[in-house]
Amino acid sequence: MCGIVGYIGEKQVVPILLDGLKSLEYRGYDSAGIAVEEKDGIGLYRSKGKIADLKEKIGGVEISATVGIGHTRWATHGRPSDHNSHPHCDCKKKIAVVHNGIIENYLELQEELIAKGHIFTSETDTEVIPHLLEEVYKGDLYEAMYEVSKRLQGSYAIVAMCWENPEVLVAIRKDNPLIIGIGEGENFFASDIPAILAHTKKIMLLKDNDIAVIHKNKVAVFADNSLVEREITEISWDAEAAQKGGYAHFMLKEIFEQPLAVQQTLKGRVVKNGTQVDLQEVNLTADFMKTVNKVMVVACGTAYHAGLIGKYAMEKALRLPVEVDIASEFRYRDPIIDEHTLLIVVSQSGETADTLAALREGKKRGARCIAITNVVDSTIAREADDVIYTWAGPEIAVASTKAYMTQLVAIYLLTVYLGQLLGKISPNQGAAWLKELSLLSQKIQQILDSAIPEIEELAQDIAGKRDVFFVGRGMDYAVALEGSLKLKEISYIRAEAYAAGELKHGTLALIEDGVPVVALCTQMDVYDKTVSNIKEIKARDAHLIGIGYAGISSLEKVVDHALYIPETDDFLSPILTVVPLQLLAYYTAVARGCDVDQPRNLAKSVTVE
Ligand code: M6R
Repeated sequence: MCGIVGYIGEKQVVPILLDGLKSLEYRGYDSAGIAVEEKDGIGLYRSKGKIADLKEKIGGVEISATVGIGHTRWATHGRPSDHNSHPHCDCKKKIAVVHNGIIENYLELQEELIAKGHIFTSETDTEVIPHLLEEVYKGDLYEAMYEVSKRLQGSYAIVAMCWENPEVLVAIRKDNPLIIGIGEGENFFASDIPAILAHTKKIMLLKDNDIAVIHKNKVAVFADNSLVEREITEISWDAEAAQKGGYAHFMLKEIFEQPLAVQQTLKGRVVKNGTQVDLQEVNLTADFMKTVNKVMVVACGTAYHAGLIGKYAMEKALRLPVEVDIASEFRYRDPIIDEHTLLIVVSQSGETADTLAALREGKKRGARCIAITNVVDSTIAREADDVIYTWAGPEIAVASTKAYMTQLVAIYLLTVYLGQLLGKISPNQGAAWLKELSLLSQKIQQILDSAIPEIEELAQDIAGKRDVFFVGRGMDYAVALEGSLKLKEISYIRAEAYAAGELKHGTLALIEDGVPVVALCTQMDVYDKTVSNIKEIKARDAHLIGIGYAGISSLEKVVDHALYIPETDDFLSPILTVVPLQLLAYYTAVARGCDVDQPRNLAKSVTVE
């Protein structure tokens, strides 16, 4: 989604804004722009396309300005174009604004402003903000923002600058992330940490409805028009962690980071000689858990697929009914949920608008809410009753890989934790799963070390196909869904996943000569059933790629190409089976020349409904 950077200090602002925007590219965008304080007014540079296009537009012009704001836009209101790109200005071009989110009442505000004579030059909802500021500005940009905030409905992170008031930048946030970077003689606003990490590791997190004013030497935050204190956090990872580190793409780097991410997510949580789980940020008691009659997992996209694994795992281990819902559906369907429901929301970013709304809906209805998220102090982390952090490190590629992997680890840990709390899992079973869980990072590494040449070759073939199908039973089906999402989002090939036994109820009609079908075969209790389904598919001349355990399945006898993974407990197999699927998607997208890290039309963090 959109990205924001703002700078006030003594250095030349243009390279700082452009580099900051470049590091936010992963969020997904279709246009970009900057506004800087120049001698005779605000210098506005905007362009459809990439940061490189914006740079070209700025050209070799030497701009000495030391104050400015920048934005990458992911179009919601108005198509991607130069004139719809942010920043947007008031009529006199004295005030410039960048905005993430949606102003829901912009039509009514626009009508009112047009009636007062304001001239609009874009189709965006954002443009009402600088015009509203212009209406109320009387020499103090903070006062103006405070007044304007009373008129805005929707979600927003806004940063504004004013040519007549060059010593400050003013920002406000509501339901959209915005941080302050604290430097030496310079300060920053940003929608995400990577944008300012090259300059400072000191971060101040803003709360909803905070209005922040930054000068080059001071920072002030106001809530309800009163000065408040906000904590400063020191970021532990450096700019290098948000760089490609020699890999061709962030996605490949993140796939390779999975063994470490798994270890980090497990670290300190498997205790008592590997027999028990300790989740420090979760405060559930056995007494409370005995009142729970249903678990609901709510999430979007890949996080939803992780939730599906949670259903299989928790139903098996806890013998509690588990429902999994897509967040955008959950919130509008009057869900049956109350104080006897344990609600688990899963979100890499912790900012996904639909997931956040689902969390709020669940809390409103009395459910106890656990968040599984990768971003410390994200809105979802802050609003949930309990949090399990997935220590995957920053995930930059739009296609989620290591975050999914660590979401699975967190879900398994939570399953064992709840099972032990409720006495539903025997000590031996718990210890056996935890032991195997701790071996999985090595097994992922084995796949990464050995499978790539074979997968690259398969990808060359798949790259030329129109459709690809993924099938599996039980947990294999849930992983098949993730494999198909990975392939379609980065290679643009139509990829669909089906429960293997369901194909004959309709989809089999789509199977024709040479169509690739990836069959996951790690659920040994239904292995023979899956093999029967594979044979039905093979009889229609599909090209079958099977994924199964080395040494115990003889997949090569029934498929055209068998990909083997190290043996593990079927209960935990998704942690391994997803790896070849991620690699298959990656190498197919590369073979097709696609923009792997920033697929078209997609954003990393979806902060609008
Ligand atoms: O940040 P979240 O986990 O809440 O994001 C949810 C989805 O938008 C995300 O998983 C999306 O589906 C990814 N592009 C998948 O690779």
